[in-house]
Amino acid sequence: MLCGLMLFVLGLISLFTGHVASDLEWYSQHLVNRRLYSKLEEARRRAINIWESKLSKNYYGCSKRSPRFASAVKERSSNGYLLIATSGGLNQQRTGITDAVAVARILNATLVVPEFDHHSYWKDDSDFVDIFDVGWFISSLSKDVTIVKRVPDKVMRAMEKPPYTMRVPRKSEPEYYLDQVLPILLRRRVVQLTKFDYRLSSILDEDLQKLRCRANYHALKFVKPIEDLGHKLVKRMRKMAKRYIAIHLRFEPDMLAFSGCYYGGGEKERRELGEIRKRWETLPDVSEEEERKRGKCPLTPYEVGLMLRALGFRNDTYIYVASGEIYGGEETLKPLRELFPNFYTKEMLVNAELKPFLSYSSRLAAIDYIVCNESNVFVTNNNGNMAKILAGERRYSGHKRTIRPNAKRLSALFMERNKMDWETFARKVKTCQRVFMGEPDDLKRGKEFHEFPDSCICEKPSHEKIKDEGNNHHDLQKE
Ligand SMILES: *[C@@H]1O[C@H](CO)[C@@H](O)[C@H](O)[C@H]1NC(C)=O
Ligand SMILES: *[C@@H]1O[C@H](CO)[C@@H](O)[C@H](O)[C@H]1NC(C)=O
Ligand SMILES: *[C@@H]1O[C@H](CO)[C@@H](O)[C@H](O)[C@H]1NC(C)=O
Repeated sequence: MLCGLMLFVLGLISLFTGHVASDLEWYSQHLVNRRLYSKLEEARRRAINIWESKLSKNYYGCSKRSPRFASAVKERSSNGYLLIATSGGLNQQRTGITDAVAVARILNATLVVPEFDHHSYWKDDSDFVDIFDVGWFISSLSKDVTIVKRVPDKVMRAMEKPPYTMRVPRKSEPEYYLDQVLPILLRRRVVQLTKFDYRLSSILDEDLQKLRCRANYHALKFVKPIEDLGHKLVKRMRKMAKRYIAIHLRFEPDMLAFSGCYYGGGEKERRELGEIRKRWETLPDVSEEEERKRGKCPLTPYEVGLMLRALGFRNDTYIYVASGEIYGGEETLKPLRELFPNFYTKEMLVNAELKPFLSYSSRLAAIDYIVCNESNVFVTNNNGNMAKILAGERRYSGHKRTIRPNAKRLSALFMERNKMDWETFARKVKTCQRVFMGEPDDLKRGKEFHEFPDSCICEKPSHEKIKDEGNNHHDLQKE
């Protein structure tokens, strides 16, 4: 339990130290003549295409092997067996699996199908084979890395000691693996790397980056029961509406308590979250307002709804909401439902069919992953692993619109909501959200490879390109 809690805390830390609230000022309004500015704004608002970025058609995902990329080293001539124990929930584990493939390649090791984390906060005893098609995983990467289901008995029997276990630092460079892991691998034949998530540098040479993309976007295919149910949900949404928004909400009590923010629930909320917060003895006293100003507070479901309406999504838009436990439950979701009455969750779309999956958080997360990946627009209120990994996959598969709230600037605006009319508010929200809309030339905030797989995104030749009429490429509102 204690261990689970610690892992959860680590997860939370990564949720908040992300770059939702990048400090970038887009451009200074003071430099622009006010009247000219408002005219431009008006034109821009008329022309907005919130559903799809036009420039996205100029790019495509590219992760083919280059001719100089040598064939996989065969099992019998490899440097040994690499065992990987992943860490965290499904999407955090996904980073570990992807990077494990690249590390096996760097070491010329035979990769053993990664082991899943059964002790994380997300408590799930699913294994790789319960989530991903293991045969496909092995065969589709066979030219790059040799992967086996387990260490052969013969090798196990010949070992004098149990496999050597080690944990490498976050974001290690290939040189680290070659200097620190390879000698042990050669000596011991089998090495296990534990807590394996985000353990490989975001910057690698291009062939290895493309290998990561082949692993993440092609070799990891969900097993059939998950695929089937996920696509059934997508079909149900599409039957009702040509296009839909998927919203991934994280609003669990623990997470909110950890944030130290206030979410508008009065004394009751302060008491309840304060109580939970006591669990973490070392948390500093923080000021609710300061945290909010720094953009450290995830948007409430209502705020996500407000942002979307302000960006121009109409009240008859269909939304699919993926979430775990929501603090305050229905009461908290009600204001979002009022803004978007066509509100759906997986429970509302397929009830009985969900039963076999209910006690497996990873399988449920996989189903949500599919519905969110297929959505026309994807929005989150957090900067967790799912948000990052999906943002990366959506960039790779054609820059599908992905909206990340600029919490820092939006928070200030939400506090002022009652001091301005709706038009003004909406205009300001649009300004805050520039470069947070998943456009091809959004700034690569943070450059985490799983979120910005830039080595795997190619530009079409210029004669095939759609011209951007304005000369401001960053001005996504223009269509
Ligand atoms: C891996 O194998 C390639 C040849 O396929 C070789 O050039 C490279 O030096 C080897 N690396 C290691 C770490 O064994
Ligand atoms: C959307 O808003 C309009 C008025 O602005 C209202 O008449 C209509 O019923 C609303 N649609 C839905 C689905 O709530
Ligand atoms: C995500 O969507 C793209 C198409 O837009 C598809 O090619 C890809 O396989 C999907 N990924 C998953 C995991 O379903």
